[in-house]
Amino acid sequence: MSSENRTSIPNSLQEHWMPFTSNKDFKENPRLITEAKGVYLKNHHGKTQIDASSGLFCNPLGHGRKEIINAITKQLEKLDYAQPFQQGFGGSFELATRISKHTPGNLNRVFFSTGGSDAVETAIKISIAYHKAKGQGERFRIVGRERAYHGMHIGGTSVGGMINNVKTFASILMPGVVHMRHTHLPEHKFVKGQPETGLELANDLERIASNFGSENIAACIVEPIAGSTGTLVPPKGYLKRLREICDKHGILLIFDEVITGWGRTGSPFAAQEFGVIPDMITMAKATTNGIVPMGAVAVKEEIYDSIMDASPKGAVELFHGYTYSGLPIAVAAGLAVQDIFEKENLFKKAKEMSPYFLDGLFSLKDLGAVGNIRGYGMMGGIDIKLKEKPGKAGYECFKACYDAGVNFKATGDCLIIAPQFICEKKHIDEIIEKLRTGISNYMKK
Ligand SMILES: Cc1ncc(COP(=O)(O)O)c(C=O)c1O
Repeated sequence: MSSENRTSIPNSLQEHWMPFTSNKDFKENPRLITEAKGVYLKNHHGKTQIDASSGLFCNPLGHGRKEIINAITKQLEKLDYAQPFQQGFGGSFELATRISKHTPGNLNRVFFSTGGSDAVETAIKISIAYHKAKGQGERFRIVGRERAYHGMHIGGTSVGGMINNVKTFASILMPGVVHMRHTHLPEHKFVKGQPETGLELANDLERIASNFGSENIAACIVEPIAGSTGTLVPPKGYLKRLREICDKHGILLIFDEVITGWGRTGSPFAAQEFGVIPDMITMAKATTNGIVPMGAVAVKEEIYDSIMDASPKGAVELFHGYTYSGLPIAVAAGLAVQDIFEKENLFKKAKEMSPYFLDGLFSLKDLGAVGNIRGYGMMGGIDIKLKEKPGKAGYECFKACYDAGVNFKATGDCLIIAPQFICEKKHIDEIIEKLRTGISNYMKK
């Protein structure tokens, strides 16, 4: 196949082992995307679809942005690669400065990784290195939460809490991990925004601290809104309570904002939205509008300083990094994205569009297959009632929606909807209308 035709149907589908995919099913009936522009995608049948989940929550600025394409092209022509260890290039410093203008408090030291999973591993390692630098090397436990998704490396899988991601790999998970309960209560049915009940679930951290010894715990990691499991919005006061317990016991609080970061909640980060400043924030996805892999961890200045101060001058302070940490094209994309965020005031736009989007989403409540709807900012989850076994309803419904011209991510039996920030009301209307058609068609099957 010539390179021009690479996005059309290939000669063989067998060799590519697809991630998080029912490979056998897909290869019998493939879904290939051939073009993407603005809020629309085109599939290999030539059918146009609206992108209702910003890709994997990573393209909020829309597809095919010329500014980003030009920035990447210019960067490639000037400097395609620079070693990131013991040397560097100016762009990554500039991007770190731009990122730190949006992070809360003094989370203004930025470590670059190559995606969200790497960002999580980095944050976990920094938490361990920090305590060691402070003479508290016995702090080795990391507290995660049920139904969490923190990427697919060993650390992230261990602190994550989605059973299918964990059970096959139980024998190789990180030691010392303890999980809090998730925050989704039976009474959280069709709640728009933050539930009123469930704050006390944060006390699980206090309980873990007394069961295992708080002096052994390095960090607690949570997604402020649990995204991949289906948009579980934190109960009112929950994150604040976690912060208080962490402070009481010297535990670092990590917010994994790989989805919630960069405006998804209507604020730059969920930390600002919910008024709770963690010690570290992980980000990825929208950092480059999802088109070049890149992740980052924003770290409190004191943590950086403690790790710096623990090593003599001339020594490497943190034995950690990636070949593609601060890759020039990722940085170029990241800087172009920052320009667009500012120029188009997109966090504000997301905040203003949120009520309209959530009203639309909740209007689907009358459909018989819909078991629950949740949402905050520009993200929402629709639970599809179980048919036979878990996961089947979500996948079948996703396929019916795909055929109805709306594209998104389904996890288990939840449809996760996260429109792009460039969406106008007419696009939100189209998403909701096509969801209604797709879910209704699924119900007829
Ligand atoms: C909260 C969270 N953390 C980490 C990750 C992993 O990111 P990546 O797939 O870029 O490794 C994701 C991906 O969806 C995520 O949602």
